[in-house]
Amino acid sequence: LVTAVILVAAGSGQRLGYGMPKAAVPLGGEPILMHALRGIVASGISSQVCIALPAGNDGLRRLCEDFREELADGGPLLTIVDGGATRADSVRAGLDALMDGTDAVMVHDAARALTPDSVFHRIADALAAGAEAVIPAIAVVDTVKTVKATAGGGSPAPEVVTGTAPREDLRAVQTPQGFRLPTLQRAHEAARSLDPQQSAAVTDDAMLVEMTGTPVHVVRGSTQSLKITTPLDLILAEGLLEGPLG
Ligand code: CTP
Ligand code: MG
Repeated sequence: LVTAVILVAAGSGQRLGYGMPKAAVPLGGEPILMHALRGIVASGISSQVCIALPAGNDGLRRLCEDFREELADGGPLLTIVDGGATRADSVRAGLDALMDGTDAVMVHDAARALTPDSVFHRIADALAAGAEAVIPAIAVVDTVKTVKATAGGGSPAPEVVTGTAPREDLRAVQTPQGFRLPTLQRAHEAARSLDPQQSAAVTDDAMLVEMTGTPVHVVRGSTQSLKITTPLDLILAEGLLEGPLG
């Protein structure tokens, strides 16, 4: 399958709190974005990598252009697009820039900069075996509960539990998420008619595909694919660079 990767790197990194886009934050002496890009190229699964960057960020754009020069002949086509206000907007900008003849697409968070090759290959294999949609996931270690705000002024505590999901049925979902191109295009087209509250609740691409009724398959993810979100995650990622987990 001719496969493209949309690398979404247009977020602002509020929770990391470095005062710069997360993709530009150094990890092991190099911007997070470079780790993500090298990982995708090293996996060898893509004929095109389309990077959604924060609009007007010349530093990150130059970084991508330099990497393009560095890529040997036979490497993937590197395309740069301006990301949007939401992650889904950034994905849509990427979808609009894919080459004709693309059969499948993987959407990947730049923030999951240390994703191992094996995960890209498990996604590619499931797509090749006929899956319309496939995502990597790992078991959840915490007990997960739903809560609501306490009625009447937050006393004696701000929230009260409304339920506990059985943990063996829960998965923590990662990227890259893989789709047949028409499947993801249809899902993102349908998403345009969501109201703002529904749009705000969309946290991954698979969710949009689920809404269209297409089965989403699940393969094993990796703890190394952690999403660098908070300062603690950055410390973990620095540690992983020192010596990956087995
Ligand atoms: N992303 C994007 N465009 C947006 C928002 C997010 O391309 N408008 C990307 C981020 O760059 C990141 C991935 O989506 O690689 C996952 O988002 P998240 O971890 O939330 O990153 P940020 O939005 O940058 O972080 P924060 O929410 O803390 O500001
Ligand atoms: Mg975000």
